[in-house]
Amino acid sequence: MTDTSQATVSPTNPAGSRKVFIKTYGCQMNVYDSQRMGDALASDGYVATAAMEEADLVLINTCHIREKAAEKIYSELGRIRKMKSEGELAKDLRVAVAGCVAQAEGEEIIARAPVVDLVIGPQTYHRLPEALARVAKGERVIDTDYAVEDKFDHLPQAKPAQLKARGVTAFLTVQEGCDKFCTFCVVPYTRGAEVSRSFVQIIDEARQLAEAGVREVTLLGQNVNAWHGEDAAGRPVGLGGLLFALAEIPGLERLRYTTSHPRDMNDELIAAHRDLAELMPYLHLPVQSGSDKILKAMNRRHTAEDYLRLIDRIRAARPDIALSGDFIVGFPGESDADFEATMRLIEEVGYASAFSFKYSPRPGTPGAEMDGHVEEPVKVERLARLQELVTRQQRAFAESLLGRTLSVLVEKPGRHPGQIVGRSPYLQPVVMAKTAGAIGDVVTVEIAEAVANSLIGKGAMMFDPSTSHQPAGMVA
Ligand code: SAH
Ligand code: SF4
Ligand code: F3S
Repeated sequence: MTDTSQATVSPTNPAGSRKVFIKTYGCQMNVYDSQRMGDALASDGYVATAAMEEADLVLINTCHIREKAAEKIYSELGRIRKMKSEGELAKDLRVAVAGCVAQAEGEEIIARAPVVDLVIGPQTYHRLPEALARVAKGERVIDTDYAVEDKFDHLPQAKPAQLKARGVTAFLTVQEGCDKFCTFCVVPYTRGAEVSRSFVQIIDEARQLAEAGVREVTLLGQNVNAWHGEDAAGRPVGLGGLLFALAEIPGLERLRYTTSHPRDMNDELIAAHRDLAELMPYLHLPVQSGSDKILKAMNRRHTAEDYLRLIDRIRAARPDIALSGDFIVGFPGESDADFEATMRLIEEVGYASAFSFKYSPRPGTPGAEMDGHVEEPVKVERLARLQELVTRQQRAFAESLLGRTLSVLVEKPGRHPGQIVGRSPYLQPVVMAKTAGAIGDVVTVEIAEAVANSLIGKGAMMFDPSTSHQPAGMVA
């Protein structure tokens, strides 16, 4: 999954209600969770604000994946404490910490950050209003239990108007937690064991999203292709079967899923890529390393060759599929030769995009205890080389699209008048002339130019003559 960091804003702010400022770090699942916590707080009388200064409650949804991500939270909390003591924030402001740092370090947060009133783990978000009621009585609360009840049975759904305001694309969590225990990773500890939401619950939520105008749904899970359940007729199905069922929902034109583990890419899922026009030809399939020795030490339970042959099968089913991956450099024991094996694997696959990280030892994971930790300067150098290679591949991929006609889902107005922005099947932003279509339409556009991380459709105004002479392609 990709790192994100954003404030969640609601469309309406009736005067007199309590206000919550939500800040989200980490993966898409945290973005989804923040929305659901916002929904739970809305039914408790809160409205969202984008300004921390006017908030009665600040809720920080955190990520523990690498040391930097976790440390960021403590500096943010220090800043909030300072602002509060200097009168820049509400005097009786409450501060809540949710997410994976909350789960992993609840006691430590309470000890290190006196400004925090509530620590709540990902499994108990449905109890947020109840926990805040205890905070209101003056308690400092930690709720990081693994709840026995299913939080999704208890979390309120957003109203159609709220869903509409969130736009034409949406996330939908179908699976949480992970049983894979890669030796570098905290997720099995912060998110617990693998749990799949029920088929019926997912189909219902997807229908509601489609009825509210959502055109593209991305199914989320830490291990999304481990999802399994029973369809409406009681037959066992995997993620492939679920995708076939979702493709039937009127209005849902595009489906995606993230993040997958190579070991769970089964025939049914590969068949979905072959047969479903709705399933976008873009797959995030992390491999982490190209060295069998390192893959073994990481407990990935497959070899580099297994991964390459799997990619062959997926490409045979869907020849235009674009791939993205995650890579870790400097895992304990990684030699120059191991790193070169990773570079060779990248060369062989040819990625449309990739996320890469220096190994960060995480407390409590087996990797942190291993021998052969790699020196920081070596990690820095390997990361730079790897990123240079994937940037080159990403550029080559974007350039291969020049002159081609792509289907684009129109998402929002562009930065400049006369433009709109959508997404290609491969997740790239596409800048188009406003006349290309309305928000929510899937249109076909000829790609005229590739700039930075976006594509420019033929006929999009390249300069805005009225206000500036900035190139129009620089879209966030
Ligand atoms: N199953 C999810 C895991 C999310 S973590 C997924 O595969 O996307 C996202 C990525 O962060 C992982 O794929 C891995 O490349 C990276 N990562 C996880 N733990 C890490 C660590 N300790 N140090 C560096 N990168 C790490
Ligand atoms: Fe972490 Fe591995 Fe599970 Fe992904 S599959 S969440 S990397 S333990
Ligand atoms: Fe981070 Fe937790 Fe997601 S550790 S990447 S927020 S599952």
